[in-house]
Amino acid sequence: MDEGERSYLDAGAQRDDAIDPRTSFRESAAVSDPTVYERFTETWPDAWRRAAACLEWDRDPQTVLGGEPPAYEWFPDGRLNAAVNCVDRHVETRPNQLAVRWVGRRGEQRSYTYADLSRAVNAAAAGLRELGVDAGDVVTLYLPMIPELPVAMLACARLGAVHNVVFAGLSAEALAARLDAADSTVLITCDGYYRRGDAFNQKSRADTARVRSEVDLAATVVVDRLGDALEVSLGPDEVDYGALCASHEGTTVDPVTRRATDRLFVMYTSGTTGQPTGVEHTTGGYLSHVAWTTRTVLDVRPTDTYFCAADIGWVTGHSYGVYGPLAVGTTVLMDEGFSDTPDRIAERIDRHDVTVFYTSPTTIRSLVKRGAAALEEYDCSSIRLLGTVGESITPETWHWYRDHVGDGETPVVDTWWQTETGAILLATLPGVTPMKPGAVGPPLPGIDALVVDEDGDPVDPGEPGVLTLTAPWPGMCRGRHAGDDRTRTGDDRTRETDWVETDDGWRYRTGDRAVVDEDGYVRILGRVDDVLKASGTRFSVGTLEAAIVGVDGVVEAAAVTDDRGAIVAYVVTRSDGRPRADHREAIAAAVETDVVAAAVPDQIVFTTDLPKTRSGKVMRRLLADVARDEALGDVSALRNPEIVGEIASAVREDASTPE
Ligand code: WTA
Repeated sequence: MDEGERSYLDAGAQRDDAIDPRTSFRESAAVSDPTVYERFTETWPDAWRRAAACLEWDRDPQTVLGGEPPAYEWFPDGRLNAAVNCVDRHVETRPNQLAVRWVGRRGEQRSYTYADLSRAVNAAAAGLRELGVDAGDVVTLYLPMIPELPVAMLACARLGAVHNVVFAGLSAEALAARLDAADSTVLITCDGYYRRGDAFNQKSRADTARVRSEVDLAATVVVDRLGDALEVSLGPDEVDYGALCASHEGTTVDPVTRRATDRLFVMYTSGTTGQPTGVEHTTGGYLSHVAWTTRTVLDVRPTDTYFCAADIGWVTGHSYGVYGPLAVGTTVLMDEGFSDTPDRIAERIDRHDVTVFYTSPTTIRSLVKRGAAALEEYDCSSIRLLGTVGESITPETWHWYRDHVGDGETPVVDTWWQTETGAILLATLPGVTPMKPGAVGPPLPGIDALVVDEDGDPVDPGEPGVLTLTAPWPGMCRGRHAGDDRTRTGDDRTRETDWVETDDGWRYRTGDRAVVDEDGYVRILGRVDDVLKASGTRFSVGTLEAAIVGVDGVVEAAAVTDDRGAIVAYVVTRSDGRPRADHREAIAAAVETDVVAAAVPDQIVFTTDLPKTRSGKVMRRLLADVARDEALGDVSALRNPEIVGEIASAVREDASTPE
């Protein structure tokens, strides 16, 4: 353990005691019986039937868990359709309830009742079918936060096609790589969208990707988001989305029944190698798990107005922005402009009477920065539950969130999960489990977590180690692949994450360092591998550093995050640490184009060298300590120990330079 981790843990030991849920919340919560944990343990895996029971099946699953470990199969003989579960069954009971309330960047509003959503999904499904999309085909979606995105996802699901959503902010190269890796049949994109006030041409980026991609697309469908604000012309194999749907207005497409183990979607994420890995999620296990956790952890019910501030381009937006809430049949607020103005949460909560709000610590920090006074003019009293995901939240930020967005007693669920896990695995149950600010909570009922050392042996409470899961869960991905290298889960034993066999059975390595306390609450300390999280976006350190090194005149770069989640890049330039005047800008531009805007470093420190071990490995841990202004560990193993002092003073100087 290094010094940084030790001081973090010592501070944790002095933090607040557990906070019990408020009685009035407990009384109405989806789960309020504390024996739920024991009942899951006693009847595992059968206990997971209650998750499957959140759905409507064409054929009820008789078997809960099958398959050969670690290629577990959940509800393998069950059959269902995801779009039926998220749309049709609510149309039967509540056709006029709002399903999606969309607010555009220019203040435009569009509302879809469940009946409207059904019509839109059916028309889009009929259009895709006309273009030749069949069950099992992959449709790649490169769209911003507009209603056509969830509609297209559900249209794919209706046809049994697999969607592959690529975050709209990713580059043409990233899209090309994902089009190829997923073997896409059709691409759906748009003319453009408003980005920081300007009309941004998304179509030209998609065009570049198509030139670079090797797959032979049957068609490219283009949504007209900007109207007159951006003119784009369509080629012979390009189809206007609006016209396509209009020609099928009123058509009903029979939902294609799927095996529970069939793919619902694939999502590419940054793995340890830097190459994007396709994470494949199932129709039955995944949907059961997200529906159950939306109900039990986020406590969402049909009468809520639920706001998930994550972009649908990432997994949180899939699980808790689309599938979970729509499976529950609630009203979802979808905000196109949120990423530009995360500090205006209170405004949105007030205007739309949001009752449940789910976001990331980065967003909460932007609110803290704006100050409590800025919230006072808004009424957030509609809020009854708050959630957070994606990074660790400090106890201070946790309390701020609860006091200023909540009413000081609102339950806050800190939820831990990953793209690969599909759904929440560690969190408190808001009506049952006491909360400990800064800790994500114990594993959910039915989930078994264990913190182990490098050799895989369990560590004592209070000692840090690697977080592993010792039993499968319904939302687990059914496979992962990088490029053409398609492997079933667990096939590659060399990965930092994924399943490994031990003397005590199979374990899933999460890639996170963590510490568990005497009560079984887990605190996440960070990643063991080279994956960075910033603004809720996950990317590999290698990709970020490669983008920086690609800038003319840059020789070497290392990136870390500080204790507030900001990215600090240490950069060595050819002119011996003296950057050119335009270097900062050039680096920011390169990162934005090659990686993603969220990866642009918050601070760039120019230095003459990076701290390295004798074997030439960059010591990122040490750089993180410098960024966090923490006591430095032993530097004697370094080949160039003198550089650490130089870097530390460069950081301090940089920090004291007025902006
Ligand atoms: C981190 C996002 C601390 C963790 C759903 C994990 C968290 C990675 C939390 C997955 C949390 C997620 N507290 N860290 N509550 N939730 N993480 O795939 O490092 O984008 O491995 O999925 O985010 O990121 P991903």
